[in-house]
Amino acid sequence: MSYTSTINIPQFQQDLINWFEKEQRILPWRENKDPYRVWVSEIMLQQTKVDTVIPYFQHFMKQFPDLEALAEAEEQQVLKAWEGLGYYSRARNLQTAVKEVVSEYRAQVPETPKELGELKGVGPYTKGAILSIAYNKPEPAVDGNVMRVLSRILRIEEDIAKAKTRKTFETAVYQLISKENPSAFNQGLMELGALVCTPKKPSCLLCPVQQHCLAFQAGVEETLPVKVKKTKQSTKHYVAFIIEDETGRCVLEQRPNNGLLAQMWQFPMVDTTTIDEQHLEAYIQEKFQTKVLQTTEKEPVKHVFSHLIWYLTVKHIKIKGTIRLPARMKLLTKKEVEQYPLPVSHQNIYRQL
Ligand code: ADE
Repeated sequence: MSYTSTINIPQFQQDLINWFEKEQRILPWRENKDPYRVWVSEIMLQQTKVDTVIPYFQHFMKQFPDLEALAEAEEQQVLKAWEGLGYYSRARNLQTAVKEVVSEYRAQVPETPKELGELKGVGPYTKGAILSIAYNKPEPAVDGNVMRVLSRILRIEEDIAKAKTRKTFETAVYQLISKENPSAFNQGLMELGALVCTPKKPSCLLCPVQQHCLAFQAGVEETLPVKVKKTKQSTKHYVAFIIEDETGRCVLEQRPNNGLLAQMWQFPMVDTTTIDEQHLEAYIQEKFQTKVLQTTEKEPVKHVFSHLIWYLTVKHIKIKGTIRLPARMKLLTKKEVEQYPLPVSHQNIYRQL
């Protein structure tokens, strides 16, 4: 038996699409169906709330209005436009993929699942979102919101934290999706998840598809979706140094080319397991071949990533005379620092200056 066998599919499609057409929010990426705009918005909306994304999207579209503009931009400029959104590899992958579309597809976003899915950073969700929203193709676009909505309507009790569970939902969407209006159907599922079928206290009494919902009928909507908790986030402790010279310039360091926050800029940091409190000044004098005048403690900074928590102790170190800059480091005025893409945790440090 399939999960959709008891659903009145034509009625479900109609109820969902009618509601979406009437109640959808006015959002900047809904102004038109330009596949480039749909693409950028869907990448930004991954793990980031709509209200946060809106101003970033508008600014990004002014700065990089089309595929060519983004393809030609400096990577640092793209990261700067993404500053504060987090998950910066999204921005780098997007630009890599956009360059490929410009050079390999004559600046036309591909319309086939295969070609789209081969682009950097375009996973099954983004692929389905572009195909359905921009090109009106009946393809599933299953993210966490859609899994929540469908887990309730279809009473699917599989663990949505498991990667292979997404396939179950994609199969269900292939069976449910409207062939006349795949765009409104998929966006309707997303919008329902955002406005009605919320994680906590869903508004079932206002739901346009309540009559179809198996979880509502059984009174179990708040127990779905099933999501098995992953083991606790790991933590890292660092000391971050604001190293300031007599002219008010300070040292920034570019992070490694790969991995977490790749190529972003930060105040130099050391893992607290590799150095202890008493040796911090000696460490700085040695590493930068300089003289430490004074060290003051600033407010500590905590930053929660999806898989990791950073605890940063912040030291403001005033130095005298010359400094020798190790690889990937620069001595910058405060104005100049603002031109560089900094992770949110380091923007918080900068604000203490
Ligand atoms: N979340 C993911 N995609 C979305 C979209 N296109 N509109 C609103 N919220 C979304």
